[in-house]
Parts: sequence; structure tokens; C-alpha cells
Amino acid sequence: MLNIDILENLRRLNKVAQARDEATGKHTQRIAAYCKLLTKALHLSNDFANDMFFAAPMHDIGKVGIPDNILLKPGKLTPDEFETIKFHCEIGYKILNNSGNPGAKNDIFSLAAEIALTHHEKWDGSGYPNGLRGNNIPLSGRITIIADVFDALTNGRVYKPAYSTCESVRIMRDEMSSGKAFDPDIFTIFIKNIDGFDFIKEKQRK
Ligand SMILES: [Fe+2]
Repeated sequence: MLNIDILENLRRLNKVAQARDEATGKHTQRIAAYCKLLTKALHLSNDFANDMFFAAPMHDIGKVGIPDNILLKPGKLTPDEFETIKFHCEIGYKILNNSGNPGAKNDIFSLAAEIALTHHEKWDGSGYPNGLRGNNIPLSGRITIIADVFDALTNGRVYKPAYSTCESVRIMRDEMSSGKAFDPDIFTIFIKNIDGFDFIKEKQRK
């Protein structure tokens, strides 16, 4: 159980993350709910599911270090701009990881740092920033990438429409058959619980 001071710090940091989230900040709220649902569906502990709920919304906090002309660009990024965007993982890790004070170590922030660093790593090793493969990717990152991709697909951007749950699942299945972006076991559980994802999506619609 998190104490009240830690919860307050988490809420404030979440506000920072939301400030760089497009539109209303609902993305971070949906990611929290999706990650908790998926963690519970994997029969992991309630404590870990709750930690994912609080830590996962900070996955993109490193975007505070990405210039506006790239982060907010209304269109497709150039290859160079995409290389710059990739730095948000390492920036987020540096923000959330231990501050250097040996007395200040905290598991929830360590988990959030781990998620920030690894939520774009792909099962087949084609992700970033470190090209980790398979079980070398921390479990927290393997869970968060599924939530994050589902949320990106089911919400519109200036350069793409919002896809339905059904169409999003089809796109994610295609990605699994071509390159295996996601942990196959976690992806199976995600598909089995797609109604729960759809419920959260509808409940927290922008
Ligand atoms: Fe990200």
C-alpha cells in the first residue's frame, strides 16, 4: 500500500505527464486502467496491478524534453524527427529513476522508470531505445506496450482516424504475424479480455 505522500507525488508527476499528452490527458488515465486490467488478467498480484496503475501513466513523461515543433507537429515525422522523439524513453528514465539520494529509493518510481525506458521495446527486438528482445524486456514494458498501441489505434490523430476496437485488434494481430511486436502470451490474454479494454475505452472516451 502506497503512503499518502508518495500518492501525492505520483499525482503531481502525472500532471506533468498529462501536460505533454495531446488533448485532455485522458490517454494517461486509460493507460492506467488498461495496464491494471491486463496485469490482473495475467493473475499477477494485486499489489503489482496497483503499482502498474500508478506507474504506467508516467510512461511518456520524457516528452517534457522533446521540442514542441517535433512533439506537436501536425503530420508525419521525418526520420530525423523520429530519432529525436525516441529520446523520450531515456529522458523519462532519468526523471523517474533514483535521484541519487540513497535514502530515497522507492519501488513505484523504479517501476515507473523501467516502464518509461522499455515501453517501446518489441518482442522481436525491433523496438527502441535498446532493441531488447523477448523476456529481456521487463514484464512492465511488455504489458504497457500493448495498452499503449491499443490506445494509439483507437484514438484519432491529425494524420489518422480513430479505429474501432475490432479494426485495432486486426491491425495488432497483423503486427504479430509479421514481426511479433508483443509478448505472445500477454497478447493472448489481451485478446481474451478485449471486452474489458473496450469497456474502458468507451467509459473514458474524450
Ligand atoms: Fe512513448
